[in-house]
Amino acid sequence: MTGPRFRPLAAPAQWISVQLNGESVDVPRGMSVLAALLTHGEDAPSPDWFCAIGQCQRCRLRVNDREVMACQTYPGKGDRIETRDDWSG
Ligand code: FES
Repeated sequence: MTGPRFRPLAAPAQWISVQLNGESVDVPRGMSVLAALLTHGEDAPSPDWFCAIGQCQRCRLRVNDREVMACQTYPGKGDRIETRDDWSG
C-alpha cells in the first residue's frame, strides 16, 4: 500500500462563538457540547460523563434554558450553555 491512509480535511474548521457559563468561547462548528467542554478544560467545569452516546444521561446541562445531554447536542452560534454546579469531573 502506498500513500497516506487518511486524507486531511479539505477545508479548515469553522469556529462559532458560544456563551459558556456567561463567558464567550470559540468552538469548532460541529463539535458536541461535551467535546467543547472537554477542550476548554481550564475554562469550564469538568463535565460528568460516561458513555458519550446518549445512554447514561450523566452529562445533562442547559442550552438556551432547555435541559439537554451535552454529548448529543451540537451548539449553534451564540447559544448559551450552562453547566451544573455539582459536576465532579
Ligand atoms: S455521556 Fe452519557 S448521555 Fe451523555
